[in-house]
Amino acid sequence: MIRKTIACILLGLPLLASAAGGGGHIQHVNADISNEAAVQRGAKYYVNYCLGCHSAQYVRYNRLALDLELTEDQLVENLMFTGERPHDTMENAIPSTDSANWFGRTPPDLSLTARARGDDWVYSFLKSFYVDPTKPTGVNNLVLEGASMPHVLWELQGIQKAVYRTDLDAEGHPHEVFDHFELVQPGAMTPEQFDVMVQDLTTFLTYISEPVQLKRQSLGIKVILFLVVLFLFAFLYKKELWKDVH
Ligand code: HEC
Repeated sequence: MIRKTIACILLGLPLLASAAGGGGHIQHVNADISNEAAVQRGAKYYVNYCLGCHSAQYVRYNRLALDLELTEDQLVENLMFTGERPHDTMENAIPSTDSANWFGRTPPDLSLTARARGDDWVYSFLKSFYVDPTKPTGVNNLVLEGASMPHVLWELQGIQKAVYRTDLDAEGHPHEVFDHFELVQPGAMTPEQFDVMVQDLTTFLTYISEPVQLKRQSLGIKVILFLVVLFLFAFLYKKELWKDVH
């Protein structure tokens, strides 16, 4: 019974992960939160391009400063533009009722998104906006079909369109599947620069979704080392105790 339950959980995990959606258009990202420079750049992009709509209600500016090793002056200069105080949380500017009217959906708080969706999902989502004149925002998103978020980074990424190819399904009927994106209007960044920017943003979102992650990992290593040493002494002690019995 127990074995069955464990097997179900283990088998269910990948299903759960894929239930986050994306239809197989998920790209891998290396969101390394120990890369402080990347988290700092991501924080700056977040404040400039995202905070207008998305709050990060569990993040305090002074906690950010502490973790990112910024002085209070650097904090105010780089991340705080609208007169917040250092102990404030990252609130957005628009009241949620207004934003729901504007976008059809209130932009969700992003404090925990990277954990809920996964960093690969967030990275792919931000790179998957494509032109779709039938949508009110003029764009659609391959990873989140019908997303009501506008393509806020279009000036940097440029504008891309989705190119489809025709495949045959199991019964031999032709159907369209996504093939690749084609840049129809280049942005201010090259695709490589844009990839790094989105990686930085994802790294920042990953960091805020679990700020203690780094500490937890280093603590984990210490605990394991301690257990190894403890085992060694326990083993030697046991040998000592039993040496006359045999
Ligand atoms: C103009 C307002 C606006 C701005 C600016 C904006 N977003 Fe959004 N965002 C939205 C809305 C609205 C949604 C909800 C989309 C939906 O579910 O249809 C959304 C959804 C998302 C989601 C999906 C969350 C989820 O779990 O479904 C992510 C991730 C996200 N935004 C990231 C960002 C990032 C990163 C930036 C900055 C580069 C940004 N957004 C800037 C309006 C905005």
